[in-house]
Order: sequence, then structure tokens, then C-alpha cells
Amino acid sequence: MDHNKKIIFSGVQPSGSLTIGNYLGALKNFGKLQADYNCYYCVVDMHTLTVRQNPEILKERSYQVLALYLACGLDPEKNVLFIQSHVPCHAELSWILGCYTYMGELQRMTQFKDKSARHADNINAGLFTYPVLMAADILLYKTDMVPIGVDQKQHLELARNIAERFNNIYGDTFVIPEPYIPKQSAKIMSLQEPDKKMSKSDTNVNNFVLILDSQDVILKKFKKAVTDSGCEIVYDEINKPGISNLINIYASVKDISREDVVKEFEGSRYGDFKVAVGTAVAEALAPIQSKYNDFIADKAYLDSLLKRNAEIAGENARKTLKEVYEKVGFIVF
Ligand code: TYM
Repeated sequence: MDHNKKIIFSGVQPSGSLTIGNYLGALKNFGKLQADYNCYYCVVDMHTLTVRQNPEILKERSYQVLALYLACGLDPEKNVLFIQSHVPCHAELSWILGCYTYMGELQRMTQFKDKSARHADNINAGLFTYPVLMAADILLYKTDMVPIGVDQKQHLELARNIAERFNNIYGDTFVIPEPYIPKQSAKIMSLQEPDKKMSKSDTNVNNFVLILDSQDVILKKFKKAVTDSGCEIVYDEINKPGISNLINIYASVKDISREDVVKEFEGSRYGDFKVAVGTAVAEALAPIQSKYNDFIADKAYLDSLLKRNAEIAGENARKTLKEVYEKVGFIVF
């Protein structure tokens, strides 16, 4: 690692197949940042247990997220790609930070409110303390910047508050992390219900496009996407949420501005625009899918990478944890 470079940490839950929301909101940016920062990209398997998981499927999905990191172009020599449960410091720091987090703060988390409404039969303590574990993930590595979609912003703000609180009591310990939220793909919306976030745990498959959906399926889903009344392709989140979402998707995939998209499709019909967006997404994902297939077939390689990186991440995390243990008054050898 180059000690002059700033540090990035981000994570993805292996709780479902990843969507283009995950890709455009997070993974695509991970790749852009790898040259200028020391990056830790984690498969946050411990977070998934807040909702019931099938153990075999969870294991496979953890490999899938790692293979997707690689397929999206993350260089395994330049980035620390690892699994959260392989580094026990995450759970250890989470306990400490939990003692510096207030119930009221956790009760205000919108994701907790949403998820407990959706899983009313399983409102477990982990779901409630989830943002503390996320704060531990970030703070363990003295992270400067966290690339995330806007849905994680509130959790990041809590991590900052916890870090500041700890620093105020014990002196400078944690770096206060900044969010890195892409403008055009901060929140990719559902294709059928564009007033809600595209989510990998949605029950209606037409609401999301998966990174691994076949080219046909991608095109079909975009053709079915809900548009709005009127016929103009203009950006207006309030009155034209469907079209605005498609503009954001096209702009992010092509790395152009919303204004450029509007110009390009001036006078086009909704139907033609939907086909163009679907085609652009399918084209962008094709090389990722092909690389993914190669990586996922080589579990021995993935395992060796995970073992090596668990050690690298663990070594750095242990340093911070030791510092924290000393500050709170534990006996450390
Ligand atoms: P997760 O697994 O739900 O999502 C992974 C990343 O994808 C982003 N994202 C989206 N961005 C734009 N539009 C969408 N529709 C969309 N859906 C998801 C998320 O914002 C996220 O950046 N709690 C986190 C995982 C986590 C984490 C961390 C992230 C655990 N520890 C530490 C950063 C740092 C989560 O559930 O993300």
C-alpha cells in the first residue's frame, strides 16, 4: 500500500443477486477510484444475517460478489478484496462502538424502520444495531472516503457521529469519513415503481435489472419499464419519475450528463428511448458477465485471494482495534 494515498472502504451485502443499482451506485465507482486511493472493498456477509438466509446460498453469493468485484475491473493486486467475517476485528470494534451509540440514534435510521416494517416477524437486535457494525467496518481502516448510494448516507452520518464522539472523549483516534455519492446514479429507481429504490430483495423481478441478467431479459425489462404521461424526454423527478430514472441510467452507463441524454433523444418516442437504454445497459454488462463467468468458475483462485486479503485487512484492522482497546482501558499486550 502507498502510504501517501487516502483510504477508501466500501461494502456490498451478498444478500441477493446484485442489480444495476448496485453497479451504477457503487461498483462502477469502486473501479474509478482504485488508481488514486488505497481501497478496501468488502463482502459484508455478517450484515446479511439481519434477515434470514439460506446458508448454502449465502456462501455462493459471497463468492458471486467477489467475482463481480473482479469482473467490474477491480485489480486484486491494488485493492484489498475480502470478506467481513474473515476479519474478527469488525465484530470486536462493533461491540465497543455500540457502547457509544444511543438507542435514539438507531431508532431514527430509516432503513431500520423500513426493514422492520417489511420483516415484522423478525425484528431482531442485529437489524437494530446494523449501523454500528457498518460504522466499525468503516472506522477500522481509518477510512477517508466511502463510495455509496444515497440510501447509505444516513448510516455514514451516524458513523461520523460515533467517530467524533469517541475522538472527543479519548483524543484523535478515528478519521472522520466523507461520503462519495455519484450525482446521476445516487439512487437508481425501480423500473415498475419509479418512486421506490431498485432493490435486490424486491419480490417483483421486473422492478430490477440484475448485473447477470441475460441480454434478452435486460431488453425485455427495459421495454416494460413504466414511463409517464406526456411524450417528451425531459428530466423531472417529480412529474416524470420513470423517464428521469431512465435518463439517469443511460447517463451513468455512458458516462455523460443528463443534459446530453436529453439532447440526444430530443424528439424520440418513449418506446425507442427504452430500447436505447436497455441496449446500452446490455452492452455495458456483456463484458462484465463474461469475465464474471471465468472468475466464478475458479473457486481455488478466489479462495487464495480471500485468504491473502483477510490477512492484509486483518493486520491493519488489528492496529486500530489495539489503539481503541488501549484508549478505553483494556490491558493490551
Ligand atoms: P447494499 O448491499 O444494500 O448495497 C451495496 C451498494 O449499492 C448501493 N445501492 C444503490 N445505489 C444506487 N441505486 C440503488 N438502487 C442502489 N441499491 C444499492 C448502496 O448504497 C451501497 O453503496 N449497508 C450497506 C453495506 C455496507 C457498507 C459498509 C457500505 C456494510 N458496511 C461500509 C459502505 C461502507 C448495504 O446494505 O449496501
